[in-house]
Amino acid sequence: MAKIGILGFGSYLPSRIMTNDDWAVLLDTDDEWITSRSGIKERRIAAADESTVDLAAAAAEKALADAGITAADLDEIIVATDTPEVYFPDTASYLQHRLGAGEVTAFDLGGSGCAGFVLALDVAKARVHAVSKKVLVVGVEIATRIMNWSDRATAVLFGDAAGAVVIGAGDGVKAELLTFDSGTDGRYADILTLETGGTRRPFSLDEAQRGGHREFTMNGREVFRQAVKRMSAAAENVLDRAGRLKDEIALVIPHQANLRIIDAVRNKLGLGEEQVYVNVDRYGNTGSATVPVAMAEAHQEGRIKPGDLVVLTAFGAGFHWSAAALQF
Ligand code: ACO
Repeated sequence: MAKIGILGFGSYLPSRIMTNDDWAVLLDTDDEWITSRSGIKERRIAAADESTVDLAAAAAEKALADAGITAADLDEIIVATDTPEVYFPDTASYLQHRLGAGEVTAFDLGGSGCAGFVLALDVAKARVHAVSKKVLVVGVEIATRIMNWSDRATAVLFGDAAGAVVIGAGDGVKAELLTFDSGTDGRYADILTLETGGTRRPFSLDEAQRGGHREFTMNGREVFRQAVKRMSAAAENVLDRAGRLKDEIALVIPHQANLRIIDAVRNKLGLGEEQVYVNVDRYGNTGSATVPVAMAEAHQEGRIKPGDLVVLTAFGAGFHWSAAALQF
């Protein structure tokens, strides 16, 4: 079997930059608190006329160009997002039409939060192995449109972005997908959630009036603890499965939620600062987009070279986690 991996990378960041000082005008917060607690200095905000499919399409076009193919060459599209274009159908249906792809299978992997993109890579590898030749995988989020702009404990952490890759097999593979470790611990499902709008708590006038549609619930400390534990364990597991050692890692690209989480994962893995990619300072937490955006940037900046062993590791609502070992 030919090796399966990434044929092309792409990302898109909305142009509007919102700094911590901009937040301090709107909320009782300041640059010192946000920087010391999260490492975030600024984030991007989607324009009022941009929706999820716009960001997804912009990143996807770049990934297709980088892979040297067109949308007509795709056999499948997977979109990882928790901030979809509409309630239903899925964003992938809109994206298929927007890109001009054929009548290929297109579906969302929704609800897995910030782990969504790496989980979608795991699925895509299996699909390439079994049925499809070329799969477009997108991680996209416009979190700033569903979050509560009055809640300083959550609002300052998020930003908007999209990242994409094309997965395929054979000679054009730039990064082979070696191994994955994905899992879920549903005991924590209520710890990081947006409940309103589901069947448990449907939309109603009362809900809207009390702001329930933007009631983002997060136990920050528990998320922090579990994220560190699961992201570091998953990274170790993919190395074990690939028969590789920590010493061989050229770069870890972790989910970018918080610099303190990233540092704690780095310490647990015993890695140096130069071995871990960080851009949370510039974009904040962009959910399922953090890993593909960081991977596209690291590749473009020359932080990843042919021959490098790279580990992706992500964690999100559910709780879900997913890690991957890649051979560039
Ligand atoms: N500015 C100023 N003060 C604030 C702000 C703010 N933006 N937000 C909260 N505070 C205050 C609170 O009101 C509280 O004040 P009090 O002590 O008087 O009640 C205090 O700061 C809270 O401080 P801590 O709870 O000690 O804050 P902590 O150091 O735990 O940091 C944080 C909070 C950043 C949320 C941290 O728990 C965290 O990063 N957790 C991970 C959560 C995360 O990354 N979620 C992203 C989504 S999930 C994912 O991507 C995996």
